[in-house]
This record gives sequence, C-alpha cells and structure tokens, in this order.
Amino acid sequence: MGAAEAGRAGLLADGVAAHAGTDANAPVAADPGTRDAADVARGDEPYYLPAGGEVALFEQCHARQLAVMIKGPTGCGKTRFVEYMAWRLRRPLVTISCHDELSASDLVGRFLLGPDGTVWQDGPLTRAARQGALCYLDEVVEARQDTVVVLHPLSDHRRILPIDKTGETVVAAPGFQLVVSYNPGYQRMLKDLKPSTRQRFVALDFTFPPPERESAIVEREGGVAHSQARALVALAQRLRGLHDRGLAEVPSTRLLVAAARLIASGIAPQQACHAAIVAPLSDEPVLLAAMRDLVDASFV
Ligand SMILES: Nc1ncnc2c1ncn2[C@@H]1O[C@H](COP(=O)(O)OP(=O)(O)O)[C@@H](O)[C@H]1O
Ligand SMILES: [Mg+2]
Repeated sequence: MGAAEAGRAGLLADGVAAHAGTDANAPVAADPGTRDAADVARGDEPYYLPAGGEVALFEQCHARQLAVMIKGPTGCGKTRFVEYMAWRLRRPLVTISCHDELSASDLVGRFLLGPDGTVWQDGPLTRAARQGALCYLDEVVEARQDTVVVLHPLSDHRRILPIDKTGETVVAAPGFQLVVSYNPGYQRMLKDLKPSTRQRFVALDFTFPPPERESAIVEREGGVAHSQARALVALAQRLRGLHDRGLAEVPSTRLLVAAARLIASGIAPQQACHAAIVAPLSDEPVLLAAMRDLVDASFV
C-alpha cells in the first residue's frame, strides 16, 4: 500500500461513528495503484524478456477467465511480467501490495463520511472487478486468511463479489482477472495459502533467468555494456551458490540491475556491488566477508 493509500485507510476506517472527530471534509487521496485501460494502451510497452511459454499461457488463462498465481523468488520479474501482460492485453492494472494488516475492507471498500453524509467508496478489488481490470495482489501470503477469502467468489466460475455492507453483488466485468504472486522460499511457519485458496489458481513458476537472458536484462535495464552485464551475472551465480552456506536471500535480478545502474553512473564496479548487492543481502559477518571476496575476485 502506497503512502497515499495508507493515509486514506487511516482517515477512513470502518465505522463512521468512530471517526466523528476526523476531518470528514478532507479530500480523499486518489488510489495511486490504478492505471486505467486508456493509460495502459497509451503507455510504452514495458520491457519484458520472456523465459519460455509464460506469455502464451497467461493469455490463455485470460481468455478462459482463469485466475493466475505466480510463484518465484523476490526480484525475478513477476511484477514486470504482470505489467507487460496488462499492456499486451490492453487491460487496466490494479496492484495491491499485501501485508498482514490488510483487511477485507481495504480490498472491498468502506463507507466514508463526506460533506453530504456517508458515501460508499469502492476498494481496489471492487473497482478492478467493475472495470474489468487485471487485479494483481503482490505477496498474497502476507495477507490474513480472512482477507484472502474475499477473493474466493471472484476466482471461480461465479466471478462475483458480494459486498456485505451495501448488499450489492458486483459481477466482474469480462476482462477482470485475478493475479496473485508469492515467494515460496520465505520461511513462514504458519503462513501459507490454504489449499482451498491455492486450488483456485493456475500456477506459473518463475525462477531467475538463465545467464544469457539475465545478462540481456541487466544490460538493457542497467544501461551497462554487455561484458559488464555478463560479469555481474557471473558474480550473481557464485553468490547464489552461497545459499547452501546459509545465505537466506540470494541476489535477485533486481539487485543486479541496481548495481549496473550505479556502474553506469560512474561508480566503481566493486563499490557498486558492495553497496547494491552484498550489503542488502546479509548482516552476518562471515557471509559478508565471503561475498566481498567473491566481488573482489570478479572485478580486479
Ligand atoms: N524477464 C524480465 N524482463 C525484463 N526485466 C526483468 C525481467 N526479470 C527481471 N527484470 C528486472 O528485474 C527487476 C525486478 O523485477 P520485478 O518484476 O520487480 O520482480 P518481482 O516482482 O519478482 O519481485 C525489474 O524491475 C526489471 O528491471
Ligand atoms: Mg514484485
């Protein structure tokens, strides 16, 4: 949830009476997470380098109104893929970052106190259903189970969203599609999606791209020469090998792009790699030293 939306959630909580003391006339911040279909169609094609058949598979899911779950480590291209698919399918994109305080009302909507009394305001999920948007819930396992169940009637053949508070049942517009992502590698003891939720989705497995493809991405997104991009990817491969030695989070394509951008702006490669790749990954002195050694060996 962006700052503006968090602000809105704070301003406009569920019960109106409980908020008699808040500034009811304050303007409601526009939701920053939505781009409508016209924006998407006008926007430039997002750069996305496919891994295999995921574009065709997603298109078939969209055509058949099947919800999609994208599984993969952080920074491997999940969000970029969804942005690209929204552009390709000419659908608006509504993105919701999930966290453990996200409530059903944050998704569905709530009554607001306005100058003329209370008015209902759709939440992002409801808006996406009405607009026929792609609704992308990022890191869905972070959301509480009682929030996630709100998705159920939208994710099967019913394609409806009953709104308890107004009595309305929203029927999703034809282009509406639910897309969720999560990182199965995180250590989460009790946190996982319930089977009843999981089985509503077609799952796409994402991993880091093979070296040639990842180099092409780093070159293009980071603005460095191909040889630099290759060196960064080769370093990443060695660092990813430290997973077996206790490195919980391995360097993602996103971190490589960040390091490349620093290098492209004139920072020395070693310093760029320490700052953008090594330091963000761990605080463990032994692991940090091992990673620094690998960086120094890669850029002499
Ligand atoms: N297949 C890809 N095509 C283009 N860019 C990619 C790809 N995979 C990763 N990236 C780059 O990596 C960055 C992080 O990807 P992102 O989609 O935000 O990761 P995730 O959502 O999986 O955490 C993107 O901003 C982009 O620069
Ligand atoms: Mg993402």
